[in-house]
Amino acid sequence: MDSKFWHDVWDEGQIGFHQSEVNKNLKNHLNLLQSTEHEILVPLCGKSLDMNYLVSENYTVYGVEIVKKAIIEYFDEHKLNYHCEDISTEQNVKFESYTTENNKLQLYHGDFHQFDQLGIKFSAIYDRASMIALPPELREVHAQSLRNLTKKNGTILLITLEYDQSKVNGPPHSLETAEVQSLFSNDFEITIINEEKTKNIGPKFKNNGINFVTQKVYCLKRK
Ligand SMILES: C[S@@+](CC[C@H](N)C(=O)[O-])C[C@H]1O[C@@H](n2cnc3c(N)ncnc32)[C@H](O)[C@@H]1O
Repeated sequence: MDSKFWHDVWDEGQIGFHQSEVNKNLKNHLNLLQSTEHEILVPLCGKSLDMNYLVSENYTVYGVEIVKKAIIEYFDEHKLNYHCEDISTEQNVKFESYTTENNKLQLYHGDFHQFDQLGIKFSAIYDRASMIALPPELREVHAQSLRNLTKKNGTILLITLEYDQSKVNGPPHSLETAEVQSLFSNDFEITIINEEKTKNIGPKFKNNGINFVTQKVYCLKRK
């Protein structure tokens, strides 16, 4: 899946993944993401309202998003002023950072899987509709980026979905616990902190004979 797919998604407004409310699992389990720095990384952030919530909870939020339109929509919809800076490393990795006046929110325009090249590490990472947005062949790359970006003892809150992938293609892709274990267990302690079947699913699922999906919330603690 190349970035064109996501540019088309945003250009066509096909953003069914975007929630109009703050994610309840984030609210319920925010205590797991407490860190002394109060900084949090949101990979593949879109224009998620969860970022507003995290700022309101006194976090400095770093989001990474490959489609500039999503970033601009975020700032426009929340009437936030920002300044933009080009970032380029010696290895020619390029990002644009969009930062609010109070520096509490920094949205990086670029490929998340190169973000670790900037040398920033986090004690708290919130991965919702991010790992499961990617096709299976990119999971190891994504897991490697998350590993590189997490400080020792840092925590990732990872939200996944499981459903019968033989009936319908992603995204979102089904991600089984066995694969989460295989991707992360060398470097993280893994705890499932919530598991819930939900029928609150889009027509794509219902039209293909899927009546519910299982949402799982993992706490990954970096060893
Ligand atoms: C399913 S959406 C989820 C957005 C957000 N996490 C949310 O909860 O609303 C996935 C987002 O990741 C972005 N994206 C996809 N691949 C990316 C990459 N390699 N680097 C950064 N962003 C990416 C897409 O443009 C899209 O906005």
